[in-house]
Amino acid sequence: MTEIEYPPRLSLARLPTPLQPLDRLSEKLGGPRIWVKRDDLTDCAISGNKIRKLEFTLARAREQGCDTLITCGGVQSNHCRATALLGAQLGLQVHLILRQDDLGSSRSLDAAEAAKDGNLFLDYLAGAKISLYEKKAFQHRLPDLFEHWSEHYQSAGAKPYSIPTGASDATGVWGYVHCIPELISDFESVGIKPCSLIHATGSGGTQAGLSAGAELYGLETKVTGIAVCDNAEYFNNKVRADIDDWQHLYSVPIDPEIIAIHVDDRFVGPGYAQATEAVFTVIREVAALEGLVLDPVYTGKAFHGMIEKIQQGEFAGQTDIVFVHTGGIFGLLAQRSEIDFQ
Ligand SMILES: Cc1ncc(COP(=O)(O)O)c(C=O)c1O
Repeated sequence: MTEIEYPPRLSLARLPTPLQPLDRLSEKLGGPRIWVKRDDLTDCAISGNKIRKLEFTLARAREQGCDTLITCGGVQSNHCRATALLGAQLGLQVHLILRQDDLGSSRSLDAAEAAKDGNLFLDYLAGAKISLYEKKAFQHRLPDLFEHWSEHYQSAGAKPYSIPTGASDATGVWGYVHCIPELISDFESVGIKPCSLIHATGSGGTQAGLSAGAELYGLETKVTGIAVCDNAEYFNNKVRADIDDWQHLYSVPIDPEIIAIHVDDRFVGPGYAQATEAVFTVIREVAALEGLVLDPVYTGKAFHGMIEKIQQGEFAGQTDIVFVHTGGIFGLLAQRSEIDFQ
């Protein structure tokens, strides 16, 4: 295998994260043994998948002498919360461009309550500057909003660095490429050769990194992203574009065309940040059976999809599958009223 030359990286996450079997759940389902890669344990309040990407993104921002981070996401964005806290940790100013998402059902917390909860609460706590936009304005004006805030900081003498949604771009791809040797070592230490690696896909960067990394390091496990919004065509294009940009920017010795991208878009449900009752039931049952906390926006949706796939016999005859737990606990807190304990 060719030696892989990584760009600069800040060591921010608690790595390696554990790989843990869910034996009671696996037995109950009667399919392959389910393992969880606990990337919800990459840190405490900065937990989740974003920190792996931000290790590379923030190293690049530092390299360019930037002192201000501008990024965007939904009002309960895990990525924005991780950026806000990491910015505080590194002494950088952070500005968040947030979209006011509709959290769906009548049982959701009202907007004023949601505004104070979960990830957004932590954004404020971390001292981030926050600009909240209506969904339509956010969608239509996002590039202008980045430009506006970038100019605002430049004219005040600061040096801003813009990070796209979810830090999913050429640099962010490295985060989960870097996770692949960690997974290979995990699999060796517990003696498994899993057939599938399953994770939630939202802005595509985790999937781009895992898919590219699996090809680079010769990991034969199939990587499947379970879409939490949009459709398979969207993610195929997005992940492909991020991988192409990554390969070009860093001259990675790989033909991007040979990298397989598998997306399952059957479990999106009503839309982004909106989960079905079945997803909330899975969240409740997995917490009670295994002590593992999932969230309704990302991991709960993907985990529910994985269970459905197992029950549909997709992994018949296979011994092990791995779910990458990408975090998101604070998003669950913002939708706590959706859980019915009756
Ligand atoms: C908890 C969690 N899981 C999964 C994802 C999806 O990762 P990605 O944006 O890299 O597709 C995100 C962010 O979008 C997230 O916050």
